[in-house]
Amino acid sequence: MSAAVAVKNLSFYYQSVAILKETSFQIEAGEFIGIIGPNGGGKTTLLKLIMGFLRPTHGSIEIFGTPPGTGTQQLAYVPQTVRFDPQFPISVLEVVLSGRLAHLPWYGRYSQKDRQLAIQALQKVGIPEHFYQQAYGNLSGGQAQRVLIARALVSDPKILLLDEPTASVDAQAESDIYLLLKELKGTMTILMVTHNLKAAISHVQRVLCVQGNVISLKPEEVCEHFGIGLYHTPLMNLK
Ligand SMILES: Nc1ncnc2c1ncn2[C@@H]1O[C@H](COP(=O)(O)OP(=O)(O)O)[C@@H](O)[C@H]1O
Ligand SMILES: [Mg+2]
Repeated sequence: MSAAVAVKNLSFYYQSVAILKETSFQIEAGEFIGIIGPNGGGKTTLLKLIMGFLRPTHGSIEIFGTPPGTGTQQLAYVPQTVRFDPQFPISVLEVVLSGRLAHLPWYGRYSQKDRQLAIQALQKVGIPEHFYQQAYGNLSGGQAQRVLIARALVSDPKILLLDEPTASVDAQAESDIYLLLKELKGTMTILMVTHNLKAAISHVQRVLCVQGNVISLKPEEVCEHFGIGLYHTPLMNLK
């Protein structure tokens, strides 16, 4: 079977600025990968390339054997932060339902099944029922992030990409999100960009360090200060 993600000699430039250079790596189906690296190192760019929102300048990316945006690959992306104006009239349930858009028939109406799946996804991420009809913009950071994860899950993805899902939430919400991802571990391929390696390291099976290129490390090989470019003794005994 093809790898979930196969990247070969990938280079990506914004205008003439190289963001990623001659990068190759592979991710197998079912892996839970943590992505770390300094600010501006190219982590978000890499996720956008995998999603097919950006195209490689050189080299190739294959998702289950086909280029991004083709075939029947199901990727779902939880962006860095999406906050709506609290007045913006979209309900929690509608945000999750919008994850079913790609599955809609030509006449474009959500079915009863779509609603059931949206409710199941909200239950899975632990959002209580009385929130479903409330405005999405009124949620706390942690709840909003969990709703975005529900929105990603409802599309039934094979690969889940998350860009710093815990960046704007408090410590309790952060551990809730890690618990949820731990439950999903093994049921789909998960790539998570994280700024908090220490909190994430006991959950991930492998770490990709993105800093102009991509280096693959086992969690026990990762140094605490790797993300900011300092090399140290390995970060261990955090489990
Ligand atoms: N649309 C863009 N046009 C030009 N440069 C960009 C654009 N988006 C990001 N960059 C630059 O690309 C580099 C990598 O950005 P990014 O992938 O967002 O890094 P990270 O997510 O690791 O912080 C940064 O130097 C950033 O300024
Ligand atoms: Mg980023």
